[in-house]
Amino acid sequence: MLITPLTRAKLVELLPESLEIAEIGVASGEFSRRILEGCKPRRLRMIDAWAHQDVAHLKPDSNNPEQAVQDSRHAQVLQDFAPEIASGRVVVERAFSHVAAERIADGSLDVVYIDADHSYDAVMRDLACYAPKVAPGGLVMGHDYTLHPRVEFGVVRAVNDFVLANGYTFLALTTGENFPSWAIAAGLQGTAGVFMERIASRVRNVVEVTGYPEDIAFEPKYVRHETKGVQFVPSFSAIRK
Ligand SMILES: C[S@@+](CC[C@H](N)C(=O)[O-])C[C@H]1O[C@@H](n2cnc3c(N)ncnc32)[C@H](O)[C@@H]1O
Repeated sequence: MLITPLTRAKLVELLPESLEIAEIGVASGEFSRRILEGCKPRRLRMIDAWAHQDVAHLKPDSNNPEQAVQDSRHAQVLQDFAPEIASGRVVVERAFSHVAAERIADGSLDVVYIDADHSYDAVMRDLACYAPKVAPGGLVMGHDYTLHPRVEFGVVRAVNDFVLANGYTFLALTTGENFPSWAIAAGLQGTAGVFMERIASRVRNVVEVTGYPEDIAFEPKYVRHETKGVQFVPSFSAIRK
């Protein structure tokens, strides 16, 4: 795994152009815009339920606002991306992720970026639904590979369990901002190979961690800086067996 001191916006600039990409969890489309500008995909599927979910684990989540806010986010996304929707470069799908997945053919995506419900079960379900949609050599990526003081974040455990159970390779983790993005792949050919080569050759101060996640545990830490607020400190330790 390459520890990559980039923001996720800079990370997507390392993807090849003209890919077929899906973003699961869109909200206001902030990161969708970064994807469109950063790597100029052939097509970006923007998938979000834009539905308030009345479930305990999402109550403290600021990305689960009341229905009126969800409706206005969806309307704003349709307006902001109208030119790209008209040209067919963007497809906006308002549906729960597991339902939208049923309409996507296996092996038809180059990259999926998972950033919806961050609980363990939901991330596991998104991984199970979307990993098969990615063509051989493609990338499964996502956001918020960390813990959260208030919201149930099962991303670290779910991604690690998925990697170990399915023989995936953990490729990269961003450390350029407090909420890391992650990338895994079933193999290192194609898009995944190009992506890793670009990280290794174009990004300064990359650190390689071997044996992750089978031998090493990730324990994200946050320290308070006197002026800059909370700062993320990626911390790893050996797993005692
Ligand atoms: C963290 S926000 C997405 C942020 C966006 N990726 C960005 O970085 O700009 C999470 C979004 O996932 C959506 N969401 C949560 N659970 C979902 C599910 N099961 N299916 C589809 N969308 C879901 C929420 O409506 C919310 O807009």
